[in-house]
Amino acid sequence: MALLAFNDVHALYGRARILNGVTFAVDAGERVALVGRNGVGKTTVVNTLCGVTRISQGQVDVRGRPVKDLRGYTAAQNGIAIVMQGRGILPNLTVEENLLLGTATGRKGPWSLEKVQELFPILRERRGNPGLALSGGQQQMLAIGRALMANPDLLILDEPSEGLAPVIVDELAALLVKLGEDGIGILLIEQNISLIHRVAQRFYVLSKGAVAESGSLQNVTRDQLERHIAI
Ligand SMILES: Nc1ncnc2c1ncn2[C@@H]1O[C@H](COP(=O)(O)OP(=O)(O)OP(=O)(O)O)[C@@H](O)[C@H]1O
Ligand SMILES: [Mg+2]
Repeated sequence: MALLAFNDVHALYGRARILNGVTFAVDAGERVALVGRNGVGKTTVVNTLCGVTRISQGQVDVRGRPVKDLRGYTAAQNGIAIVMQGRGILPNLTVEENLLLGTATGRKGPWSLEKVQELFPILRERRGNPGLALSGGQQQMLAIGRALMANPDLLILDEPSEGLAPVIVDELAALLVKLGEDGIGILLIEQNISLIHRVAQRFYVLSKGAVAESGSLQNVTRDQLERHIAI
């Protein structure tokens, strides 16, 4: 049974059809990439899961059960943590306060403030600083740390490599593989071919409002993947 499944999901902004029958699934502990060009609707998939964009047809299932009330907090309660595009750091809160927001669901698990600070020592060093006083890479660590504080079964990351130096993207790749191996499902929304290739086991390509292609990444070269994405 899939941890998260979109089944023929349609979503509109006003009259503009953005999602036009999107179907994909992520199993427990699986690392899956959702890829596609700018403006194709990748973030709208996340927004639909959070209830920011209304679903007009189709359904979203979590662990095989349809979610009737799609909201940010229902996703969180269902064990789905999201690292939003642009990171979503609250500027008026300190680094530590941003991290503690992740505990709102009260889900139990291995991750705590201490564990996250162990993983990212800079977040302990800078715990009293405003969240936005961090560098881009550190903000991404903060966003991921906050998501881990919710002890998720599935971590969704929307273009986490955006604005990061290549060496930081390398660290991010290693971290996401490690989290996956520890049993957290990863849905990586990305355009960075190298990151997709290093992290994901399977991919879905979003194009014209639906999944145009999908498959295993095992025997796909970077060039082939690039061509898949360019459709
Ligand atoms: N709030 C909104 N109201 C109206 N149209 C919107 C809104 N948000 C996004 N759109 C439009 O919906 C389409 C899909 O946007 P979305 O942000 O989901 O794309 P994306 O694949 O995440 O792009 P990117 O790679 O640039 O992040 C775009 O054409 C965008 O202009
Ligand atoms: Mg986006």
